[in-house]
Amino acid sequence: MRKLIIGFAALAICLLGVASVNMESWAAGADWTMSPVKAVERYKDKGSLHSPYDKDYEKVADEGHKIYMGLSCNGCHGGGGGGGMCPPLTNSVWVYGKDDDTLFRLVTLGSQALQDQYGMKRVGSENVVGPMPAMGPSIKTSDDLWKIIAWIRSVNPSSVPGGKSNVPPPPTFD
Ligand code: HEC
Repeated sequence: MRKLIIGFAALAICLLGVASVNMESWAAGADWTMSPVKAVERYKDKGSLHSPYDKDYEKVADEGHKIYMGLSCNGCHGGGGGGGMCPPLTNSVWVYGKDDDTLFRLVTLGSQALQDQYGMKRVGSENVVGPMPAMGPSIKTSDDLWKIIAWIRSVNPSSVPGGKSNVPPPPTFD
């Protein structure tokens, strides 16, 4: 038994070693307690932020929804993410893109900074066009933001790579 524990400990240390080599691309083994504002400063390169919950986003979706409500994102996007004053998070139109990195930077920095710092342009057109405020300063940890993004994926299958579009299928007549 003891040998087994030592074996596991050694394995864990090895895995940590591998993760730290990969730190520039921020995923497994990263410090998710870092605030989102710090994270986008630390990992400046577009495309370097990867959610730890990509595979099991459904497990943390409820928690993500609570954090979303706590931050009053619903005031603009609606309690279920279906929109309201602002674009819905539940349809298959993505203003800047639906990947982890884009969503993390958009919510943290807001849309003006996303355009200024990364030269990103609106590629999708929602019925409401306006600036998204920088929410990063109100979000304590990057883990919280990944959980919110996990919840968005859970209510929007079109946001998941290889996921189904949530546009209802055409009616069948038989
Ligand atoms: C004051 C209103 C407001 C608040 C509060 C707000 N947003 Fe937004 N959000 C917007 C607007 C407006 C856009 C569209 C930005 C654009 O067109 O550049 C947007 C865009 C988005 C998008 C991209 C949607 C798409 O279709 O591509 C996501 C994701 C998002 N917001 C998440 C959040 C989260 C999470 C929070 C809370 C932490 C939040 N928003 C708080 C107004 C808001």
